[in-house]
Amino acid sequence: MFARVKPLEAIIATAEKKSLHRSLGGFQLMLFGIGCVIGTGIFVLTASGAQKAGPGLLLAFAIAGAICIVAALCYAEIASILPVAGSAYTYTYATLGELLAWTVGWSLILEYAVAASAVSVGWSGYFTGTILKEFFGIHLPIWLSAGPLMLGGAPGGLINLPALVIALLVTWLLILGTRESAWFNAVLVTVKIAALTAFVVLTLPQAELERFNPFLPAGVFGGFGTGVGAVGAAATMFFAYVGFDAVSTAAEETKNPQRNVPIGLVGSLLFCTAFYIIVSAGAVGAIGGQPIMGPDGVPWPAGSAELARQCALPEFQDRLVCSHEALAHVLRVIGFSTVGNLVGIAAFVALPSVILILLFGQTRIFFVMARDGLLPERLARVHPKWKTPYVVTAITGAVVAVAAAFLPVGKLADISNAGTLYAFAMVATAAMILRHRMPGLPRRFRAPLLWLIAPATIVGCVFLFLNLPVAAMVVLPGWGIIGLLVYFGYARARSHVGRGLTEVHEPEYADLEPDIPGIADRGRD
Ligand code: ALA
Repeated sequence: MFARVKPLEAIIATAEKKSLHRSLGGFQLMLFGIGCVIGTGIFVLTASGAQKAGPGLLLAFAIAGAICIVAALCYAEIASILPVAGSAYTYTYATLGELLAWTVGWSLILEYAVAASAVSVGWSGYFTGTILKEFFGIHLPIWLSAGPLMLGGAPGGLINLPALVIALLVTWLLILGTRESAWFNAVLVTVKIAALTAFVVLTLPQAELERFNPFLPAGVFGGFGTGVGAVGAAATMFFAYVGFDAVSTAAEETKNPQRNVPIGLVGSLLFCTAFYIIVSAGAVGAIGGQPIMGPDGVPWPAGSAELARQCALPEFQDRLVCSHEALAHVLRVIGFSTVGNLVGIAAFVALPSVILILLFGQTRIFFVMARDGLLPERLARVHPKWKTPYVVTAITGAVVAVAAAFLPVGKLADISNAGTLYAFAMVATAAMILRHRMPGLPRRFRAPLLWLIAPATIVGCVFLFLNLPVAAMVVLPGWGIIGLLVYFGYARARSHVGRGLTEVHEPEYADLEPDIPGIADRGRD
């Protein structure tokens, strides 16, 4: 079972066929990283993070950022050996074998598809709050703008229509073959950074030190399964960094990767970590960020029906922890409504591109799994005119849209994090296995101190996973069991590696060597 390892040579040969132009510099790589990463995490989940940790949210961003940086170095090394699509799934296939690769591919569905749902819900908050309410004076009824209470939505909620529509719209764009050009990505990154900078410039001067006191109202460890405390918040805010792995395969296209890959990946993560900490300091310092406590002195769980009920009370309505558009809300409360609305517009404009990148990543992983024979090849069917894998894109988009319509953003983010943490831990394991088994393999990027940072990544991922709320934690094994049933019931017998076919030449796949999202217009040799 573990012997079904995809030969490294076959993977490298596939990559070489692509023969991409080495044109990216460190700065461009950083722009792509930031484009994928900044999104719902900082624009929306800041409220959930504050509900879990209060001002300790700053510490939460630092913890999650540090774990992502060591994970990014492992990604970068392995991507420089195997610069191919499918990232964590393919790396695991080449090192730990098919069964574990399957579980990684299966958990990447949680990472990408569920994250796309979460970002859709985050976008919906800004759309209903800023665009509809502030600009057009339209109050979308709660039953049309939030999921039902029993699933953690708002009281009176039924369906999140804007989230459903944006997910379907982005799916449609992907089916038509829309790619974000590097130019467009750079514009959106500028919009996001300008919005966050304006936020910091206006909030920090109003920050009061006493608003940070108590700094850790729920402690550092809130208790196993509760998802509260600084590390509970770190496990949620980890979502704010998800997406950098989508650009890890850019290692192959980077000039002087030994220098530029770490600058790009680590640089973008360091930049985001610093920015996130400063932005959350501005938010908490300007209006306060203490959680709403339950009767036993423990914060109500973020995304819970109880918290939604509390937030409906007039005395709590202005709290950071109750806002669906955290950053715009803070600016409005301190009297900068116009800038608050501009920040809302920035989120409205920029978040769909994050959905696009995540959905794109998801369809490409399915695509690679189908190409390996583990999923039905019908799924990888390419549209004759648009040249996109339209079947898998449509199915994924529909599922993402339904999840976005009924589930709250915090729950979706936590579930997505569970899958991502598993994939990151496997990538760190794969990086160590490759170093051990094939120390002489040419590596265009060697992670410094791999024997330290790879175990640190694994420990960090397990640690964050164990600090997720228990409801998100159990999704991973539950989803894993379904995955194993599919593997043994369907995939195992059809696997190309299992059947001795290591390379499949399907002409219709030729055009579809998965691209790195956001850099579709880069040069090819
Ligand atoms: N990191 C991305 C976000 O925060 C997924 O939206």
